[in-house]
Amino acid sequence: MFNKVYHGGDYNIEQWLSYDGILEKDIELMKKANINFVSMGIFSWSMLEPTEGNYDFKWLLDVTSKLFENNIKVIMATPSGSKPAWLSSKYKEVQRVNEYFQRELHGNRQSHCMTSPIYREKVKLIDTEIAKRFAGNKNILMWHVSNEFSGHCYCDLCVKKFQDYLKLKYKSIENLNKKWWNTFWSHNFSDFSEIYPPSPIGEFTSTPLLMEWEMFTTLNTIDFYNAERDTIKEFDKDAIVTINFWGDTWMHLDYFEFRKHVDLITYDTYPEWYAKPDHEVAIEASFTYDLMRSLRNDNFFMMESTPSTSNWKYASKLKRPKLHKLSSILPIAFGAQNVGYFQIRKTKGQCEKFHSAVINHDNSDQNFIFKDVCEVGQIIPNLDEILNSKVKNEIALYFDWNNKHALENNCGPLKGKKNGYTENLKEVYKGLKHAGFSTDIVYSESDFSKYKAIIIPMGYSIPDSTWERLLEFSKDNTLITTSMTGYADEIDLIYDNCRNHNFEEISGLKWVEIDGLYPKDENHCNLNGEKILFKDLCELNKVNSCDIISIYEEDFYKGYPVITKNKNSYHIAANTDPDGYAKIFSHIFSKENIKKLKFFSEDLMVSKRENKTFNYYFIMNFNENTKEIDLANGLYYDILNRKYIKNLTLEKYDFAIIRELK
Ligand code: GLA
Ligand code: ZN
Repeated sequence: MFNKVYHGGDYNIEQWLSYDGILEKDIELMKKANINFVSMGIFSWSMLEPTEGNYDFKWLLDVTSKLFENNIKVIMATPSGSKPAWLSSKYKEVQRVNEYFQRELHGNRQSHCMTSPIYREKVKLIDTEIAKRFAGNKNILMWHVSNEFSGHCYCDLCVKKFQDYLKLKYKSIENLNKKWWNTFWSHNFSDFSEIYPPSPIGEFTSTPLLMEWEMFTTLNTIDFYNAERDTIKEFDKDAIVTINFWGDTWMHLDYFEFRKHVDLITYDTYPEWYAKPDHEVAIEASFTYDLMRSLRNDNFFMMESTPSTSNWKYASKLKRPKLHKLSSILPIAFGAQNVGYFQIRKTKGQCEKFHSAVINHDNSDQNFIFKDVCEVGQIIPNLDEILNSKVKNEIALYFDWNNKHALENNCGPLKGKKNGYTENLKEVYKGLKHAGFSTDIVYSESDFSKYKAIIIPMGYSIPDSTWERLLEFSKDNTLITTSMTGYADEIDLIYDNCRNHNFEEISGLKWVEIDGLYPKDENHCNLNGEKILFKDLCELNKVNSCDIISIYEEDFYKGYPVITKNKNSYHIAANTDPDGYAKIFSHIFSKENIKKLKFFSEDLMVSKRENKTFNYYFIMNFNENTKEIDLANGLYYDILNRKYIKNLTLEKYDFAIIRELK
């Protein structure tokens, strides 16, 4: 989409309009740091429309024209994420209603109702004013709609829209009652109008209700976004329009639905450096980059990261020397196409004044943070050659928001951990990383055909149609599943006889009983002489047609199968930790002829991007010890230092990007 690597960030200049000369000073510093884009207008509504219908665009036009003159591109935002007080004060319905059915007061951000016709109308008016001035301008890189969407609204308008959504989907109330098993606790409804969203003061135990409420909220948020996107596209149909995705698997919005409506994935990344060992934080962050890349199966744009500290973390610990450059390269290694920050100029008042920025309170180019940013700026031009290279993987890890909502809201079998779905998913991911395998993330609708192996951690509630495709996939490829897989249909109704019939065929396993364990409980098995620990959930399966690779060694089900194999598919019936998964995956993938990443070693982060001609290896050291890598066996070119190299010495926080002819 772009022809160079961008370096920049959010520029909230509207906070500084009364400061003479600030823009000129900022542009000078931006140039020093090789900043070539800024995002604007994200929180500008009250400055663009100070009172209803009275617009003031002069400042934005002046600032943007200065930026354009200086070759700084602009990502233009719509301001709908944070509305002016006159709006919520005059039109009460625009404010969200919380899960206790109380209307919230004005304040904060993302506090609007997504359904409110008045809010949508006001947003359309302001978006139109912005789009008519900026859409089609070649200096506008893309459009950033709202900011970090999230949250629910329980107002009457949203409740009615939810009921209509259910009616459209289930057609009759009898059908909904049947699918939701509503005879339980006399939960049958006689009309759609009786159904309220889940609430602590109402129904909060029904998983189908919770799952549908989350799906409705995702669709309603997308619907709100689409209206904004369409306003921009009315003025420039070729505009790149998107949102800044954020968060991780804790996020309630279904990003696999959302990704269908944006032109490009952009991501705000804030790993919690120093809260855990750096290497572990890097692995956890790489999961989010793998997810963002996988959403559209393409490179993504890094909208925000912090130049150093984030004030909302436990401690605002400064990035130690060299970490900023390394932590900016990490997302690029996994598919980012730029470096973006929150924010260019640090705020002077309000709650983000302790969040670091490119330009800090001292306004100078002499502090550590500015120098760190300049170091990144210096290497940006060297990265242009990898812009269109892609990460390609043979392995895919299955993650599904519907499955997450089903498992996390279920009462048992591991209630103390909300069934630990995303924990298990992450431990499986870490196991892959510890064993040297790189992965994409797939979901129920993904194209599976390009992979050799798919791993499904706790695939509890997966659509029937997906199971059919997985059965096909498993005929020639490797499918690996973990505990609780194939148990319930897509709306959390347990299958007749316990298991999805396609999964029974894939796994060669029959019924299941599940043992939920307390934190002190463990079981073990032996795999090729290596002991593997099991924890949390242990399934007791009956073998129908598969081979037993390993058995439980303890408890009353000692001798029962725990790792089984049916043709090319494997089932791991109990949950283990990253070390256990690493051992199991190393065993399985060596049998199935799937190779570890070149240059992999347990104490380095390694990633590969490729284009038609070259492989690019990113080798990053997040550990204390210096690593020596011998490259004498091939011809490797260091793209940052512009020379062929025969060996690499990587001290703590060093990295290299080396190119190899394919
Ligand atoms: C988010 C927001 C930004 C800012 C940063 C601070 O990512 O999008 O506006 O608040 O967090 O880390
Ligand atoms: Zn609402």
